[in-house]
Amino acid sequence: MPAPILPPLTTASSVPARVDVLIVGVTGTKDAPTVVGCPPEVEKATAKALGSSLAEAARAVGADPAVGSTAVLLGAKGRRLLLVGLGEDVPTPDVLRRASGAAVRAAGSLATADGGLQVGLALDATEPEAAQAIAEGAILGSYTYQPISSAEVAAPKVAALTLLTGGGKQVAAAATTGATVARAVARAREWVNVPPNLLYPETFADEAREWARDAKITVDVLDEKALAKGGYGGLLAVGGGSSRLPRLVRFSYAPRGAKTHIVLVGKGITFDSGGLNIKPGDSMYTMKCDMAGAAAVLAATRAVADLNLPVKVTTYAAMAENLPSDTAYRPSDVLTIYGGKTVENANSDAEGRLVLADALARSLEDKPDVIIDVATLTGACVVALGEETAGVLSNDDDLVEQVLAAADAAGELLWQLPIPATAKAKLASKVADVKSSGSRMGGALFAAAFLREFVGEHSWAHLDIAGPAFRSEGADGHQGPGGTGAAVGTLVALAQSLAK
Ligand code: BES
Ligand code: MN
Ligand code: ZN
Repeated sequence: MPAPILPPLTTASSVPARVDVLIVGVTGTKDAPTVVGCPPEVEKATAKALGSSLAEAARAVGADPAVGSTAVLLGAKGRRLLLVGLGEDVPTPDVLRRASGAAVRAAGSLATADGGLQVGLALDATEPEAAQAIAEGAILGSYTYQPISSAEVAAPKVAALTLLTGGGKQVAAAATTGATVARAVARAREWVNVPPNLLYPETFADEAREWARDAKITVDVLDEKALAKGGYGGLLAVGGGSSRLPRLVRFSYAPRGAKTHIVLVGKGITFDSGGLNIKPGDSMYTMKCDMAGAAAVLAATRAVADLNLPVKVTTYAAMAENLPSDTAYRPSDVLTIYGGKTVENANSDAEGRLVLADALARSLEDKPDVIIDVATLTGACVVALGEETAGVLSNDDDLVEQVLAAADAAGELLWQLPIPATAKAKLASKVADVKSSGSRMGGALFAAAFLREFVGEHSWAHLDIAGPAFRSEGADGHQGPGGTGAAVGTLVALAQSLAK
């Protein structure tokens, strides 16, 4: 499984001669669109070739300022101008991210069979935040999942990206940061997109090791024997129904001088059939995405390391496949989680919280300042918040503020949900320390209440990404169908803010 192929991104202060498609912005109104960002020499040459002003030509091809809407103009010497809507107001970084993503996707569709387009972006990258967002959007817009096929592999449609900036070291550095984040997001997407017969705990752990190679990260992988020896009863129970046995991957990035220590924990269910409480076919189909939390924390950790952020990060990816078989765990089984707490299993489809419990309990030995877990944990969260917004549930409202600010900076939708005071009583068990699930109503809240049992007094936040982790169809902005890389940007932004 090779890493996704992404185009290199460079910055320049003028349009390189070899650029085939130049992306420029559209603001104003649909009736009177204004083209913005087009370098004067390109504007002049285009107007001359077309025999009309750029504004008139833009209107003629239906250029629309709606964010991410695109139209194409044939410019001088066969170069194409791709006009992308930036909204009617001054574009925020988030608008620029989505618009550049949509524009690069549209540019890719102009490629011929041999691919290899050189794409330039003349979107107002004068501020570092803008440059980072445009770079992220552009690289993510060029990400697609390659089908597994007997046909020859198609050449990438976009061969290289050039970001036009007003110059300045800070802006160029921000573009590089954007590229680093985008590569991590694409890495997470690709892991989600690989089918579950190819990506299972053992191969996922191998891939994680490969991803951390050449980074300042030390990797440890616990296989089934080590998990049994260590007493990881959650992972062993959930993963025991599959002949492809569980793994716990640990990354450690420990730069000198770091003052804050973040633990990241990700749910890595490589396929969630529901187990003995088997899911109906329709809801099982997309369950290869159930390792998106693990993908996000692993991907983000490498981005943090590549960015040299002065913050310590220890990451756990809890990997298992949830299948029914004669070795599967049962509803009413009592499991012993790492560290000794016992759990009555209410439902084998509530598997994510059990593998997370092992990893959370283990992570306390690292003495973290904050713990963030990321998981496609509950259908209830999708019902509550929809398919685009993740939920955050926590025992620390100050941490929630920081996580919400990070999500905002990364352009990800996140909304706080409560953990009601009555939740603890709902998880009471007659046969174990705690029961794995409370009630179907408000399922996201009780899942979080269960996880809270395993973090002690530590400051902790749980991100439920069951909605935004996977896009079943269609594309929007910098996202195509399939895995989205949800939470990667938020985690990197959070690490940036905690590194200060
Ligand atoms: N992986 C699912 C949650 C999920 C649903 C992720 C939809 C992505 C999209 C999780 O393991 C699950 O099955 N949760 C159950 C919990 C219940 C049995 C307590 C659910 O949400 O129904
Ligand atoms: Mn499940
Ligand atoms: Zn699951």
